[in-house]
Amino acid sequence: MGVSSFAAAPPRAAAGAELPALTPLGRVVPAPLRTEEGGAGYEITAKTRIRVGAGARERRVAEYLAAVLRPSTGYRLPVTTGKGEDGIRLRIGAGAADKALGAEGYRVVSARGSLTITSRTGAGLFHGVQTVRQQLPAAVEKKTEQRGPWRVAGGTVTDRPRYAYRSTMLDVSRHFFTVDQVKRYIDQAALYKMNKLHLHLSDDQGWRIAVDSWPRLTTYGGSTQVGGGRGGYYTKAQYKEIIDYAASRYLEVVPEIDMPGHTNAALASYAELNCDGVAPPLYTGTEVGFSSLCATKGVTYDFVDDVIRELAAMTPGTYLHIGGDEAHSTSHEDFVAFMDKVQPMVAKYGKTVLGWHQLTGATPAEGAVAQYWGYDRTGAAEREQVVNAAKNGTRLVLSPADRAYLDHKYTKDTPLGLSWAGYVEVQRSYDWDPGTYLQGAPAKAVIGVEAPLWSETLSTSAQLDFMAFPRLPGIAELGWSPAATHDWDAYKVRLAGQAPRWDALGIGYYKSPQVPWPAG
Ligand code: ACM
Repeated sequence: MGVSSFAAAPPRAAAGAELPALTPLGRVVPAPLRTEEGGAGYEITAKTRIRVGAGARERRVAEYLAAVLRPSTGYRLPVTTGKGEDGIRLRIGAGAADKALGAEGYRVVSARGSLTITSRTGAGLFHGVQTVRQQLPAAVEKKTEQRGPWRVAGGTVTDRPRYAYRSTMLDVSRHFFTVDQVKRYIDQAALYKMNKLHLHLSDDQGWRIAVDSWPRLTTYGGSTQVGGGRGGYYTKAQYKEIIDYAASRYLEVVPEIDMPGHTNAALASYAELNCDGVAPPLYTGTEVGFSSLCATKGVTYDFVDDVIRELAAMTPGTYLHIGGDEAHSTSHEDFVAFMDKVQPMVAKYGKTVLGWHQLTGATPAEGAVAQYWGYDRTGAAEREQVVNAAKNGTRLVLSPADRAYLDHKYTKDTPLGLSWAGYVEVQRSYDWDPGTYLQGAPAKAVIGVEAPLWSETLSTSAQLDFMAFPRLPGIAELGWSPAATHDWDAYKVRLAGQAPRWDALGIGYYKSPQVPWPAG
């Protein structure tokens, strides 16, 4: 990659002042589809304007970009519909070339005098903005005024995602995370062009979402967490705040109510949901597989219908995740009967079923998506069940535990996290192909990937940061970048280039010895 585009356009800087190295065009995570370097690039200056058309989507992304750039550059960066060919230009286009960008793609053209981001959609513009951020010096991410210059190398980036489903999950049940902590995590996922936030809203240790028709779920079932802390839950207004914030970063919230296992918090809140009619105590440990809704009681289905109805009504997205994992206290017969009754409820309230891959041990509803979380030691029969479901039309999201689980220890010395699926160093996390991972499954059944962040051992944002970084960007890249760009040796260099950005953003990350981090 050449970096000489500025030879003919010397940046304005005091003689002898040291300039930050120009980031080669396209050296971003996730790797873009196509990069053509050339020409003088663009420099953001005090005179830069952000030009938009009349549409609300262009303006919304422009205001977001301005809000990223203003504190560090110290420039006004007005957003304007005024005519002019200069400045940063955000365009939603409808021509044939734009159509090729698909629903989330974009083109960035960086030239002397103007930097243009074109897309068909607000999402595409937003992703283009993330690429531009990464082309600027890392100091652009700081919240106080920094010295420029703020240059972007010259040329064109044309980009669109490999998969439509690029997700990360946050477990807010084992430990509760506040709305602000969730927003911080959304911002981190958005940096790497993820477009789904799966919220694991219920488990044995806590019920975290208000359900008006069953209020004790939160007031009692949400009152603690792993280790016995205070827990917490989201009111409907707070859940909407999360959804709206995620939407402003073009992420769709996928809510999960895990059933019929992982339900102690609900069982403790309402005695009638237990087969023996006795409510167990609240649970603050980390065992799994000991709880089950009573699949043979009518009240169970009244309960589930109410929960799904209320959750669907407050969720604008397509999917509703019904869990289904580790139902070790539910008989197979009951599990199948439960899923047969519950999946139509999801459809009745207008949503698409998502479930952990154990759903394929029942009868997945038409159009359902199974989330595969097996790993190298998952038995052949279990894999085959998932593969057969995929052959029969069930779509797949892949989050193999020994690759994509962000809660797993990097090495035996990692102070946080679990290791039941093994250690997951950065290279292991990155070095697999979602298209061929599940042998025998049709490649077109795979709609994307997810990086789950379970929180048995995690209770602060700093801890989430340390486990998510640097692995989250790798799973994001598997979801976005063409398989042809997949190459650990090239990736680790691009990944290392992200570290100064994380420093500027206050993200503390694991300094894996596998990655050539910059000195200092
Ligand atoms: C899971 O890790 N139990 C989905």
